[in-house]
This record gives sequence, C-alpha cells and structure tokens, in this order.
Amino acid sequence: MHEVVLPRIGTVPAWRREARALAQAGVPAAEVLWRVGEAEADLFAERAPPAAATRQIRLPREAVATFEAALCHADPERFARAYAMLLRLDAGELRWGDRTDPPMRRLLAQEKTVHREIHKMHAFVRFREVPPDGPRRAFAAWFEPDHPVEEAAAPFFARRFGDMDWVIVTPEVTTRFVDGTLSFTETVSRERPPPDATEDLWRTYYAGIFNPARLMPKAMQAEMPKRYWKNLPEAALIPALIRGAEQRARDMQAAAPTEPPARRAAIERQRQPSAPPPPGSLDELRAQAAECRRCNLWSAATQVVFGEGPASAALMVVGEQPGDREDLVGRPFVGPAGQVFDEEAGKAGLDRRTLFVTNAVKHFKFTPRGKRRIHQKPDAGEMTACRWWLDLEREMVRPKVIVAMGATALASLTGSGAGLLRRRGQVETLPDGTPVLVTVHPSYILRLPDEAAREAERARFRDDLRAARYLLETHR
Ligand code: URA
Repeated sequence: MHEVVLPRIGTVPAWRREARALAQAGVPAAEVLWRVGEAEADLFAERAPPAAATRQIRLPREAVATFEAALCHADPERFARAYAMLLRLDAGELRWGDRTDPPMRRLLAQEKTVHREIHKMHAFVRFREVPPDGPRRAFAAWFEPDHPVEEAAAPFFARRFGDMDWVIVTPEVTTRFVDGTLSFTETVSRERPPPDATEDLWRTYYAGIFNPARLMPKAMQAEMPKRYWKNLPEAALIPALIRGAEQRARDMQAAAPTEPPARRAAIERQRQPSAPPPPGSLDELRAQAAECRRCNLWSAATQVVFGEGPASAALMVVGEQPGDREDLVGRPFVGPAGQVFDEEAGKAGLDRRTLFVTNAVKHFKFTPRGKRRIHQKPDAGEMTACRWWLDLEREMVRPKVIVAMGATALASLTGSGAGLLRRRGQVETLPDGTPVLVTVHPSYILRLPDEAAREAERARFRDDLRAARYLLETHR
C-alpha cells in the first residue's frame, strides 16, 4: 500500500505530480491511500515513492481542467476517485465526457459545484479596511467556503484588487496579496477582522441594487444562499427589503417614465469621490462614457458597461451589448454568455486577463416583462451612437487583432453584419489594416435547442478563438 500525504497548500498540483508518478509506475488505484495534511496515518502504508517513471500519461486538455476543479471539492474520497479515473482513461477503458459512466458523472458534477463555490466566493467576500503596513491601502476579509477553493478563487481577487494589499482568511487557508505578490498559508488565527464603515457601504450598495420589481425570493436564495448570510453585512436588510418590495415596485412603476431607475441613482450616490483619472487614459474614457447620453439607452439601464482589460491588449473581443447581469455588475461578459466565452477562450489558449473585452453598445437594452428584463437588439441609431466609444477604445488599445462575436459587433466594426454564418471563421480587414476574425456570439450557442448542436457549435467557436490566437502569433 502506498500512502500519499498531500500538503494543504498546493494540494492540486501535488496530487497531479503524485498521480502522474504513480500511474507511470503502474500502481493500481486500490493500492494507494490519499490524504491531506495531518489526518491519522495508516500504520501499514508505505511512504516510499513508486518506481521510476516509464511512460507518458496523456489526458485530453479539458480533462485536466475538470480534474483540477473537481479536486477542490470537499469530498474526502476525491483524490482516490480521480486517480482511479485517470487510470481508466489512460488504459482506454473510459471515454472522456461519457455521462453514462457514474464516476464520470460525479466528477463533472463536482467540477460544477466547485465552479459555483468559486463564483460565490468572488461575489460574497466582503473586505474591510484595516491599518496598512506600507503605502498601499490594506483590506481584510473573513469567508467560510464549503469547499477548499481558496487557491482557485484567489487570482480573481488579485486582478480585481491589484492596487491594494489584502488578506482573505478562511478557517483553513489564509490568502495574502502584498505588493502584488499572492501567497497562501494555513490559517493560524481564526479571528474575524473588526467591523468598520465598509459594512455601511455594503449595506448602501445592496439596498441600491435590490430591485423590488424583480423580487424572486427563491432565485435570490439560490444566488445568495442563506449559509453565506451570517458573514454578509447587507444580509440584515433582506427581510425588510422583501417586506417593502411590493410598495416599492408600485412606486417605481409610477416614477419610471420621468426618473432614472432607483438602482442607478443609489449607485451614483454611493460612488466615492476619487482623484480624476489621468487625461487621455482608458480610465478617463471610461469616466466620460459613464455620463454618456448619446442615445436614450442610458435612461433605463443601471450603468454603462465599458470595455475591460489592459490598455496594451493585443487582442480585442467585441460583443453586442451588456446583458442583465452585466448591467447590474458593470462588467462585460460576466453572465451566461460570458461563461461560455471564458470557458472556450481558456480551452483555446487565451487568457482573459490579457484581452480587452468590450461591446458594440455599452448600455443594456431591454423590455420589462413581469419581473424579468428581456434583452432587445440595439437598433442602427444606437449602434452608430455607441460606435463613438468603440472607436475610441480601439484607438487607445490599438489591438493587433479583433474578434467580432455576432452580427451587431460585426456590423459595428465593418459596416455590415449581414451573412454572419457565411462569414464566420474568416478574417476581414478594417480600413486601418486591423484583421477582424468573425465568429458567432456565445449566446447564439446557448440558444441552440439540443445539446449535440450546442457542443458542436462550442467546438467551432473554440476553433475560431484558436484561429484568432494563431493570427495574433503570426501577425506583425
Ligand atoms: N452579451 C454581450 O454581447 N456582451 C456582454 O457583455 C454580455 C452578453
């Protein structure tokens, strides 16, 4: 029997190393005991490493990503199960993605659970300002995840809060970001950071984005499950907000034609005064766009959703317009279409952090239907008005290659969106010489009625993104 003790920090890469070595040495799954950290050891277990590697273990790329995510699940048997599957895949006894196989189904379900947990952590971590050690502002947060996702969730915070120092403490792992360097240690003290004014800010924000006309307590709980409430300062507001929702919805309806939405006003009130962004920068452009009145879409939308990404990005990705979620969050492609884009871009070898992701139109256009806001295509006037901002983004970023996703993006960039499916996969050239790779919009894929068609379209979409990457590498 071989015993593998995985470290609590860096568990997943350690599993990968150990599993590869064991598989290469032909050690059967039944002969390996896996554990993390300090759990009690098996007296009969061998700690010696297996025999030297003899051959390569090959797995499909998406399998690697799935294993890495599923290994962040709290299931104590996950390491053993993953190793057993790795051996079956390697031996050709199991086809990757075969949902008729129960262990495969469980692995895929665990991957989903972990992604959801990471998403919840991104959404529900609440930072409080603490006295800094150096010139950068410092923040601390306490969070209790149900699965050990701290390391997987951290890069998001590093990107989002790159100009501050911060620490996120969970009962098991402490994640630190100091002077731009991310590090993880096991948690020593489980003390929560002291409450301060940041809580009030969160309460104001939450009351601001709470839309009584869209009140769906079940959906709300699914999105913000009760178990997270105890660490959320704004959760105390929820019962009162629900009680007052009907009356507020009536008030909003009465006020709708003449006033901007309450959400928008609340967010604007809450915006902290900050130093003006440097002139001529993307931030300045973003600040100007926030006040845009070039067409009427601003009046119903929550906020402008400006492009996002480094000003030095070599690849610009253009979609249609923000959706419901993007409108509330204020960032492009963070809803269901964004998830498809992120997944396929990742598989195509593109790192979203290096891309400039934007839309042809910067405000969400919708018609209210009951409690829902139904997406509407922007018309030619709205696209023309908003091309002003897209052109400025292009001027500022100067991408080497642009990906146009869908007919609206294509029309905005080239003047015509006709014949999208005929043009998809091809490269067109803008008057300034920039190549534009044409592809479909990810929400087109989501709308396809059957799973096989969706899978096939996802694969084609991924190929298009791969082609864009290739173009980037070969274009001078
Ligand atoms: N669809 C888009 O075109 N853009 C977004 O940002 C989100 C959905």
